[in-house]
Amino acid sequence: MDTIPLTIDGKKITCSAESSILEAAEQNGIKIPRLCHHPDLKPFGACRMCLVEDEKTGRLMASCVTPVARDMVLQTASARIVKHRRNIVRLMIAEHPESCIVCSKGNRCQLRQAAANLGIGETNLYRMPNFKPLEQANPFIIRDLSKCILCGKCIRADHELVVVGAIDYNLRGFGSRPATAHELGLEQSVCTFCGTCVSLCPTGALSIKNTRFVGSPEYEEVSICGFCGVGCSLALGAADNRVIEANPAHLPQSVNGATLCVRGHFAHDFLNSSERLVGPLLRKSNNTNAAMLAPVSWDEALDLTARRLMEIKYENGPQSIGFLGSSKCSNEENYLFQKIARVFIGTNNIDNGGYVYGQSLLKVFDEKTDGGYRMNRLADLSQAEVILILGADPNHSVPVVGYYLKRAAKQGVPLIVADPRRTELAGFSRLYLPVKPQSDLELINGLAALLHEKEAYDPKFIDRYTEGFSLFRYGLSSLDMDQVSRKTSLAKGAIRAAAELIKGKKIAVVIGHGILQQKNGMHALGAILNLTLMTGSLGRKGAGIFVLAKENNQQGAMDMGAMPDLLPGRQPQADQIVRKKWEKNWKIKLSPDDGLNMVRMIEAAEKGNLKALYILGENPLRALPESNRVRKALQNLDFLVVQDIINSETAKLADVVLAGAALSEKQGSVTNLEGRIQSFSPVVRPPGKAKADWQILDLLAGRLGARGSYDSLEKIRSEIRQFVPMYASLNGRQEAWIEMSGIKAIFQSNGTDGLISFYPVVSTEDEPADQDYPFTAIVGTQRYHLGSGTRTGASERIQKFASVGNIGLSPQDAADLGLDNGDTVDIRSQFGTVTRAIQLKPGLSPGSIFVPTGVHDNEAMNLFGLSDLTKPGAAGWKTCNVKIEKA
Ligand code: SF4
Ligand code: SF4
Ligand code: SF4
Ligand code: FES
Repeated sequence: MDTIPLTIDGKKITCSAESSILEAAEQNGIKIPRLCHHPDLKPFGACRMCLVEDEKTGRLMASCVTPVARDMVLQTASARIVKHRRNIVRLMIAEHPESCIVCSKGNRCQLRQAAANLGIGETNLYRMPNFKPLEQANPFIIRDLSKCILCGKCIRADHELVVVGAIDYNLRGFGSRPATAHELGLEQSVCTFCGTCVSLCPTGALSIKNTRFVGSPEYEEVSICGFCGVGCSLALGAADNRVIEANPAHLPQSVNGATLCVRGHFAHDFLNSSERLVGPLLRKSNNTNAAMLAPVSWDEALDLTARRLMEIKYENGPQSIGFLGSSKCSNEENYLFQKIARVFIGTNNIDNGGYVYGQSLLKVFDEKTDGGYRMNRLADLSQAEVILILGADPNHSVPVVGYYLKRAAKQGVPLIVADPRRTELAGFSRLYLPVKPQSDLELINGLAALLHEKEAYDPKFIDRYTEGFSLFRYGLSSLDMDQVSRKTSLAKGAIRAAAELIKGKKIAVVIGHGILQQKNGMHALGAILNLTLMTGSLGRKGAGIFVLAKENNQQGAMDMGAMPDLLPGRQPQADQIVRKKWEKNWKIKLSPDDGLNMVRMIEAAEKGNLKALYILGENPLRALPESNRVRKALQNLDFLVVQDIINSETAKLADVVLAGAALSEKQGSVTNLEGRIQSFSPVVRPPGKAKADWQILDLLAGRLGARGSYDSLEKIRSEIRQFVPMYASLNGRQEAWIEMSGIKAIFQSNGTDGLISFYPVVSTEDEPADQDYPFTAIVGTQRYHLGSGTRTGASERIQKFASVGNIGLSPQDAADLGLDNGDTVDIRSQFGTVTRAIQLKPGLSPGSIFVPTGVHDNEAMNLFGLSDLTKPGAAGWKTCNVKIEKA
């Protein structure tokens, strides 16, 4: 990189020849005022606040859009410049409404700050108010464009960062303003309410709508979004010990930069919901003999919990007790939770909420690569050669990943989107493959066969790092492309076009729940691994496998051993050497029994074999299929403990309820879908008598026989660092990364051991059409809700806007069935019925319908049967056969 010398404010500096003057000044500690500039946005030059003067020529230049030149001599605050700056701000204020005193931006308004810095009180100009009506029909964003200074940050954020295109300039001159197409309200546009524009707006022109008056934040602290697996960095504004505002933290190198999604920005009002648990509860009989949950002291709740767990252990054995850990709680909490199960109770009956999203299937990758596949950073997607997106709709499930993918596509990275629904991302793709539901395995095998036929594989990589290629080739040779085309409902030409796009490139495969929750999910993951191995894509920057984790700490819960078959560090508990190591660590004898996963615990409770269940931060009654069956199973337990932050459907069934704390109310760390370990500290105190979950678990462990207590989170972290090498960097810093210890030779420079074996080529059998249930229901996420919707359902804003969840139906099917937009239908499967209004979706193939999850107590899951997802041939919880009847 060429560097050049120049002088700014008398200071001699050198900088990159490609810098703007503003960047060069900034890098050398010289601050130039600005209003329209933001480092994540393309320079625009709208406000002229950043003027600098060239001493040699006398020219005034906007420093954000002017490149440096060798030997420039610049002034950033000469009397002439200050005069111009003052006039610019005076003109802006002259057309600004005099409403500062009631403006929600208040002292954070950058225009006010600029005026104060320049000593402007009265403008001494005629006032020219530029009145625009207030727009606030939606529950998220208020637009008061009378306060707009036309900096264009909102429009650039919308186009460049989140790539939505909801707003653009309308009109010219004095009447110009950022507007949606046809000047409709945001709620009638394609706006996703990500709020990115709001947090970048320098004035009160765009502001967060609070459903009730909450005032301005007293202070802001950095935290992590507790919704999805992206783990966005947040700046939470608080007042009166309540979180009242969320914005992106704008930290350098954070996963989200200046962006968030609607959940991160607006759904945090759930923290102040009346559904929050504020103290421990115990089921007690009152005078009328009806057992009610009543508030008790922590001592009473924890003493009883410990006593009942121990009684049940001694009466029925340790295997009669189950533990359901949380994909929403911290790493430290999941570590402690599984330790209580394994060490103090003596059972491997432990799982976490990630089970619902097919997390257990990831062992295909873990076993073959020792977890090494996980070291993929989202930022590297911009350098990908080609991206294949399978069974994923990230714009809804993990929206910030969607932004990365759309930005990559805009930069020219070819995307191939294979999905039965024409998702928003399909519009950004080079090739869209409307693959038949549950036939991804055939598609991936077909692609591998075509690449093999064209000899488009990486022989060096295969020789050095893999084994079993000959057998794999043999498997591919038996594939019949006519069959692949028939099973996937894709024309052979389309599959060939995809193979052509991939040929000779390293491939990034983005996998969503459409794969993980589908019937042949395990085999599909194996086929994906094969594709990345044969193309030499694994372990390469901007290539490899990107698994979209739905819950914020799904990865960490798995890493910490909240799994029946994995000890901390993702080490198989069935492996004697591994078990011995942990027995030495914990100084106890571990149970060699296979633990029960989430569904098998419910089945065991049904049969009366599981007597007690301890649920941490999960709501299985809402998350699992067949909720009535789950309810009966939970009622069949002798003892149910629920530790949560919300008085959920499951908590209402418990014998003991332990009130925990949300992420913003405690200390801890979570691991995002890239393997980024992010630590956080409390922004506010937990409500009422609620406690941080790790403290509750620590107090309970003491009552179950732990020698000494942890007392501090750091002591738990220190044990994790000592015993789990992949978490050696967990030290309370804002950000650390999973260490690459123990992974296979592929990621080491010279190693040749531990070759990665190809997965067998598996082909599926034809399934006869189901005459009784002729449609395929695809069940999935809408951006406003996450998972079962327990938390987003408690958000007033989200409930106001997105509590309906219309069924998507193709126009052709609607015409055949005599249905129209808004008609209410019964969707029936062999397990249950969902009754909702329909919405015509041209992007759906005839024969398929889309049922959004998260709304109406998540009853969409009742279309499925409750069966163990990990069993070979399990039907999965992504698609099922249904019939449609007009209600
Ligand atoms: S609405 Fe805000 S961000 Fe958008 S142009 Fe106006 S002042 Fe700038
Ligand atoms: S909220 Fe997000 S999608 Fe809507 S206009 Fe602003 S940046 Fe665009
Ligand atoms: S993308 Fe995920 S982590 Fe980021 S703001 Fe949205 S819900 Fe939160
Ligand atoms: S900051 Fe340079 S023109 Fe606005």
